[in-house]
Amino acid sequence: MKPLAIWLALTFAIATAASLAVMYSKLGSSALQQSVSPGPLSPKHAYLSDKCTSCHEPTVGVTVAKCTTCHANSERLLGRQPTGFHASIEECSTCHIEHQPTNIRPVVMDHVELAKVGARTLARASRWDADSEGTLKSLETWLRIQAPGQFDAVTARDSLNCAGCHDRRDPHLKRFGSDCAQCHKLESWTVSGYQHPSAESKVCVQCHQPPPSHFMEHFSMISQKVAGKEHARVEECFECHNTTGWNDIANVGYYKHH
Ligand code: HEC
Ligand code: HEC
Ligand code: HEC
Ligand code: HEC
Ligand code: HEC
Ligand code: HEC
Ligand code: HEC
Repeated sequence: MKPLAIWLALTFAIATAASLAVMYSKLGSSALQQSVSPGPLSPKHAYLSDKCTSCHEPTVGVTVAKCTTCHANSERLLGRQPTGFHASIEECSTCHIEHQPTNIRPVVMDHVELAKVGARTLARASRWDADSEGTLKSLETWLRIQAPGQFDAVTARDSLNCAGCHDRRDPHLKRFGSDCAQCHKLESWTVSGYQHPSAESKVCVQCHQPPPSHFMEHFSMISQKVAGKEHARVEECFECHNTTGWNDIANVGYYKHH
């Protein structure tokens, strides 16, 4: 490049940088308000359409602090097992996407992103400070890795402790252990190709736990009588139950005790 060309290019770069700086410093709330919104807000946030800065920090962008101003204290969210992780998460828009063309709920559960956000949160919280203790405690309940160095982006989902978020809905009542990922994928709880053993099976008890009532007087007073099997022992589920549903009693039909 000739010296003049270099000088021109430099001046242009400096001028551009300067005008950008002016633009950004002016991009206070009013500038942001006038900037073009990339799309409508989700229905429940629509009332914020004239308050862009409730989520956007001028010149910075969307910050977690903005979201938590309104959402830090949701007892339902923090108290329900699968969403309790909100107590220790420090990124939001990975799963809560705004400005979408359609009016859908802005919620996407992305387990792989969750694992990545978890590893980043762990890295930040591991640099000890007084606020980190709570975050680390909450991470322990659902993140399997204990140090950020253990995270592997390729096998991200392996760093999640599935049971920490899902064992309250474990229909196997812990009979199959706590490593849900051994049999389950992330999209749905159904296991493709799985075939339930035949109703002729005699080993139901290997996979199914009887309810507490079967170990009480209720069993001889009600269950055995209803099924017409006064001598069947508790572990002989197949004597009284069909595989259709637990209230479908063999040779009796639907029965529900109130
Ligand atoms: C309820 C919160 C919320 C409100 C209110 C909101 N936005 Fe956003 N906006 C977001 C989120 C979340 C993103 C995605 C940011 C990301 O990917 O981190 C975003 C992205 C954007 C982007 C793309 C660039 C960027 O920063 O990522 C623009 C431009 C934008 N918003 C403009 C607006 C304008 C203009 C308004 C007011 C009319 C507005 N927003 C109101 C949440 C909000
Ligand atoms: C000024 C307050 C405010 C801010 C800031 C805010 N929200 Fe909300 N948000 C609300 C209100 C109010 C609701 C509706 C609550 C309800 O119906 O119980 C809501 C609803 C939601 C919902 C449920 C949406 C649905 O359709 O079910 C999600 C998810 C959510 N907000 C996430 C976020 C995220 C992420 C941010 C930051 C980008 C954010 N919010 C910023 C006030 C806010
Ligand atoms: C890994 C994904 C993920 C991240 C990251 C995440 N959330 Fe959520 N969030 C969810 C899921 C999934 C739900 C449950 C939605 C449901 O019950 O259907 C939820 C629910 C919510 C709700 C309640 C929505 C309702 O039903 O009313 C709010 C509010 C919320 N999140 C705010 C936040 C905020 C604020 C952050 C950042 C501090 C955040 N979320 C980070 C996935 C995420
Ligand atoms: C930090 C909490 C957390 C961890 C850890 C976690 N999940 Fe989830 N999972 C969720 C949330 C939240 C949802 C959204 C549904 C809901 O709100 O109940 C979900 C949804 C699912 C669904 C879809 C359920 C449906 O009905 O659509 C499956 C399947 C699933 N998870 C399997 C797993 C497996 C397997 C693992 C371990 C590799 C795992 N999850 C780890 C929080 C978690
Ligand atoms: C040894 C394998 C195995 C393990 C481990 C396992 N499951 Fe399952 N689970 C299954 C099979 C097989 C089904 C039936 C799937 C079908 O019908 O498509 C199932 C079904 C389910 C269902 C759906 C039940 C229904 O009727 O809707 C849920 C929810 C579920 N499992 C949760 C869990 C959770 C949570 C864990 C970990 C605490 C777990 N599972 C561990 C094999 C397993
Ligand atoms: C002697 C017959 C008999 C045997 C053996 C038996 N059950 Fe039942 N079971 C019943 C009857 C009848 C009901 C419905 C009425 C009731 O509550 O007694 C029932 C109800 C149930 C329910 C539903 C409870 C509810 O609250 O809805 C489950 C689950 C169940 N049995 C599982 C099992 C399992 C697992 C086994 C084997 C380990 C087993 N049962 C053995 C007769 C039997
Ligand atoms: C090899 C393990 C295995 C054996 C043996 C087995 N089951 Fe199952 N059964 C499952 C799994 C996995 C599911 C799906 C998850 C769940 O709902 O517990 C299931 C589901 C069921 C359900 C549906 C429960 C619901 O709430 O929808 C019934 C009823 C049932 N089994 C009855 C039986 C009976 C009766 C026998 C013996 C004749 C039997 N099972 C033998 C693994 C087994």
